Amino acid sequence: MRLRDCHNFHDFRRLAKRRLPGPIFNYIDGAADDEVTYGRNSSAFDDCDLVPNVLAGVEDIDMSVTVMGQKLAMPFYCSPTALQRLFHHDGEMAVGKAAAKFGTMFGVSSLGTVSLKKVRKQFDNPQCYQFYFHKDRGLNRAMMESAKEAGVEVMMLTVDSITGGNRERDLRTGFSIPFRLTLGGMIQFGIKPAWGLNYVTHEKFALPQLDEHIDMGGGALSIGRYFTEMLDPSLNWDDVAKMVEFWDGQYCLKGIMSVEDAKRAVEIGCTGIILSNHGGRQLDGSRAPFDQLSEIVDAVGDSIDVMMDSGVQRGTHVLKALSLGAKAVGIGRGYLFPLAAAGQPGVERALDLMRTEIERDMRLMGVRSVDELSRGNLRFR
Ligand code: FNR
Ligand code: LAC
Repeated sequence: MRLRDCHNFHDFRRLAKRRLPGPIFNYIDGAADDEVTYGRNSSAFDDCDLVPNVLAGVEDIDMSVTVMGQKLAMPFYCSPTALQRLFHHDGEMAVGKAAAKFGTMFGVSSLGTVSLKKVRKQFDNPQCYQFYFHKDRGLNRAMMESAKEAGVEVMMLTVDSITGGNRERDLRTGFSIPFRLTLGGMIQFGIKPAWGLNYVTHEKFALPQLDEHIDMGGGALSIGRYFTEMLDPSLNWDDVAKMVEFWDGQYCLKGIMSVEDAKRAVEIGCTGIILSNHGGRQLDGSRAPFDQLSEIVDAVGDSIDVMMDSGVQRGTHVLKALSLGAKAVGIGRGYLFPLAAAGQPGVERALDLMRTEIERDMRLMGVRSVDELSRGNLRFR
């Protein structure tokens, strides 16, 4: 199987599975508990049908959107994710380059493997910095200051990961940063020598966003332990209000699901919220963002930019979310599997396929621009 044989999400996933050692593939592919929410995130879109209009004169299609003050050439962006250089040695650089080429936003994680400053210098597409709130307040300040200095456009605070989700696949393999594998996990690395060779012949793995401030390198700190030991579970609305004030720019919360919280985000001056359950990786049994979208848009859609992520695999998923009032849609595994499968060309192919699907489907829906999409185009079963 080659990159040119990849025509959709599932093809990229399959190719990534072939290339990656099992523990890494399962870290990306896995989710919390029984992974019910993970499955529901995508199937939620199937409970809703598109109702096209025809004969609408659709030779010119404009799919650009403006969200949190950023103009995006396409209505979807690459949501920030951790550890990208483990998936492919070019990591964030590959994703950033691909996103820049397609004129869309991408995010660098607090657990990113390339320095925010380095990435920011390289590309001129909008970038967001995904922030985790640490117990150490000095560290939080310093991280925000570096992001400011780097010239990042959008601050994105993730609020659904106050403690680590129960990722049972990772418990079985011993997946941790860097590595403290179980015997089974080690064998799985042994049978993918190409990955290992690549890993040792490229720049040493690092977490520059954190390494600047704390020593993460020595011990093998698992993702779960990072969340549980380093992030601050006392984080509350007052803390966030202070951060919003300090940042004094585009600021969004990732992982809002309730109307009540969406209203509070407006009250404290956020400019965006992202409905998300972290791709099903945190609270299993939580509602799919798509199912929750109309309620939130009705409550706060006029006062704040509402986005969503989790489960988006198709152009039609994006169109359904936009029809309900989302301003833009984030993808996670939708670019991570392509990254793992083939690096930058993989991500570019995935973004191109998604863009082509959206363009084709907008024509088939009889809409020329995103603002022509409305709930009139949808029926729920
Ligand atoms: C993530 N996600 C994530 N989110 C975040 O705020 N900070 C992070 O460091 C990460 N890291 C991360 C790693 C991996 C391997 C995955 C799959 C996801 C969540 C991500 O930004 C996004 O919310 C989900 O991936 C969206 O769901 P889909 O598109 O993967 O279904
Ligand atoms: C994850 C983190 C790092 O989902 O957000 O694995």
